[in-house]
This record gives sequence, structure tokens and C-alpha cells, in this order.
Amino acid sequence: MKPILEVCDLTKRFGGLVAVRNVSFSVRRGEIVGILGPNGAGKTTLFNLLTGFMAPDQGSVEFNGKPLQKQPPYRVVNMGLARTFQLCRPFVGMSVLENVMVACYSPRGARHGTTHGESPENCSRKILGDVGLGHKIDMPAELLSYGDQRRLEIARALATEPELLLLDEPFAGLGSSEIEPLSELIRHLHRERGLTILIIEHKLREFMQLVQSVIAIDFGEVIATGSPEDIVRHPKVVEAYIGKTEADLGIA
Ligand SMILES: Nc1ncnc2c1ncn2[C@@H]1O[C@H](COP(=O)(O)OP(=O)(O)OP(=O)(O)O)[C@@H](O)[C@H]1O
Ligand SMILES: [Mg+2]
Repeated sequence: MKPILEVCDLTKRFGGLVAVRNVSFSVRRGEIVGILGPNGAGKTTLFNLLTGFMAPDQGSVEFNGKPLQKQPPYRVVNMGLARTFQLCRPFVGMSVLENVMVACYSPRGARHGTTHGESPENCSRKILGDVGLGHKIDMPAELLSYGDQRRLEIARALATEPELLLLDEPFAGLGSSEIEPLSELIRHLHRERGLTILIIEHKLREFMQLVQSVIAIDFGEVIATGSPEDIVRHPKVVEAYIGKTEADLGIA
């Protein structure tokens, strides 16, 4: 089967800094793939290139066999690729429900609603129930706890009916008691919605239990790809994370 995402020779420079250098990889439909790399490795820049927030200096991206590069973010979303952000930014002054309804009015979200005979409000209620925010729909979004804002980010992305979901550090800023349930939610969405998921994370223990394969990057370059078990023992990955204990790497 053709990969859902094919990234070929992607490069992005900021002046003299090469943030993403000749990155190539592919993602199979239905996989949960992890992107691993130290701070500043180029992970978020890679997501920005995949979602049209930045244009690459070189290289190509194909999603479902169609070229993605040079497409603005709203077109990328309409093709079925949605993302969350490293920092949560809910629409302030709007309720949790309204935050998700905005995304239900996106062309792809609206088409799904029409096909299934559901109003944006009903679609949003369902999605918020799915992500565990069903009892908080009337709250102002900015009053949600940080962990719930992460769930809201995911709900907004789901409302655009993606086939491929990109999550940028979904566990960042969460306590250990919040990480496992969120990890379980991501597994649930993968299973129930048949989503393909690409996930950046630093919390390695939970991350390694969640993903099926890993792409490790350092200084903008792919340094290793493979199963989580192989990646945490890969000499280049251990070197990139020098100073981390085996427990941090999830292999103790
Ligand atoms: N808009 C920008 N202009 C200039 N430099 C940038 C810009 N965005 C990112 N960079 C630089 O590119 C490099 C990669 O940044 P990026 O945010 O992609 O890293 P990251 O792997 O996501 O790091 P973190 O784990 O801290 O989120 C860093 O050196 C960063 O300072
Ligand atoms: Mg980042």
C-alpha cells in the first residue's frame, strides 16, 4: 500500500542555520510514528513544513499521493492533515464548545457533518465527549486546566476530520497523573477513528510505549529510524541524549 505521507529531501534554513536538513521518511497508513530529538533538533520546524506554516527551501511532501508543498495551512487541513501546537492557544472569549464548532465549520468538517446529517454543534458535542471534555463544554476555554486545553487542541483538530494527525508535544507541561490518560486517549483515537498519527514528544517513557516506530532527528537530520526498542539503544540516539539516564530514555 502506498504510504499516506512521503517526505523527500526536505530542507529549511533560517539564515545560516539549517533547521531541517535533507529529511526523508514515509509513514504507513494507520501507524503511530514518533519523532524524537533533543531541544532545537528541528522537530517543530518539520511539522511547520508539513502543514504549510513554512515553505521548505528544498524537497517535497506527498500526502495521499498529492503534493503538499506550497499549499497554505487551510488547504492542508482540507486535504485531511491536521495538527496541534506545542503551546496551547484556545480561542479566548469563546466557550469550549464554540472552540470546536469553529473547526466544524471548516470545509472538510462541514462536509462530514452534512454527510452524516449532523449540525456543527452536535458534531462538536460528540468530539468533546470523545476527548473527555463532555462535562465542560460551556466553560470559557481559557479557564480549562492545561491538561484539558491539550484535549481541546486535539478536539479542534479532530473536528476537521483528519486522516493524519500531527501532535507536537502533547504531554508537555502535564503531570505524570495526566500523561497516562492522555496517552490512552491518543490510543483510543487511533483505534476508533483509524487515524494515522505523527507525534513529537520528550516524555520518553510514555512516548516509547505509545508509538510503533520512531524517526530520531538531531541538528535537523534523521539520525536513526526503527522500532522504539531499537531506537533507544541506537548509538547516535544515545549520543544525542547524552546526559540522560537509561530511565529517562525508557529502557531501564
Ligand atoms: N522562525 C524561526 N526563525 C529562526 N530560527 C528558527 C525559527 N524557528 C525555529 N528556529 C530555529 O531552528 C532550530 C529548530 O527549532 P525547532 O523549534 O524546530 O526545534 P524543536 O526540535 O521543535 O525544539 P523543542 O524540542 O525545543 O521544541 C532551533 O535552533 C530554532 O532556534
Ligand atoms: Mg518544538
